[in-house]
Amino acid sequence: MKEREAPSPDEGIKHLAIIMDGNGRWAQTRHRPRVWGHVRGAKIASRITEHASRLGLKSLTLYAFSTENWKRPEFEVSLLFRLLEKFVADEREKVLKNNIRFRVIGNRQLPEKALLKVKSLEEESAHHTGMILNLAISYGGRDELLRAFERAQAAGVTKLTEEGFSSFLDCPEHANLDLLIRTGGDGRVSNFLLWQLAYAELWFTDMKWPDFDEQLLENILRKVSTRERRFGALSEGKEHVRT
Ligand code: FPP
Repeated sequence: MKEREAPSPDEGIKHLAIIMDGNGRWAQTRHRPRVWGHVRGAKIASRITEHASRLGLKSLTLYAFSTENWKRPEFEVSLLFRLLEKFVADEREKVLKNNIRFRVIGNRQLPEKALLKVKSLEEESAHHTGMILNLAISYGGRDELLRAFERAQAAGVTKLTEEGFSSFLDCPEHANLDLLIRTGGDGRVSNFLLWQLAYAELWFTDMKWPDFDEQLLENILRKVSTRERRFGALSEGKEHVRT
């Protein structure tokens, strides 16, 4: 079993995840249908992917469709999957040109056409060594944990370690998230990357996802990198201070 490294305090922000919330409200305040916000949201996702790769991030995980999103009206669900197909087709060139490894995380219960396109780009980019782009689709954090337990069981693992368990997650390479950004004004994690969030920095902004941009991403990365991440230990030089 492949073992994974623990997060190192001096690594900086390498693994970023984003909850791209607020598309519907963004459109509604402009007297447009909610799906218009998703269309604009997909464009922003594309721009942020390119920028994250340029900034040298090791992984970017975008929450595009949760296991709970299946409860939305059928036409919105179907539009979201059409957007996903378009996104995969449009991103192909960028993925190939920039050495990005594309992957979908989640239960993979997608409409057949969308799944075929996803698999094809996953295979084409499987050998890439640059940033990993994870699209979380039909994804739930608890669901991922259950599937990881099932995989461990099927592999006959009887004693689990944290590192060992991580290798059964949907993105085994990056089990430690550095930063979660959530747009749209809510301050919760909504069943996203529950295991990976253990030591992640959290950044919540009221800005709706369609208003997000490259400059804002850079500002957040800069501000978060000044935070001290202690990973449960004490600050440097404070080992002997008793409180
Ligand atoms: C939340 O907005 C966002 C989603 C449910 C999915 C995110 C989808 C996109 C950004 C578009 C597709 C992207 C890709 C990469 C294919 P919301 O509808 O919950 O907004 P609200 O909170 O204002 O209602």
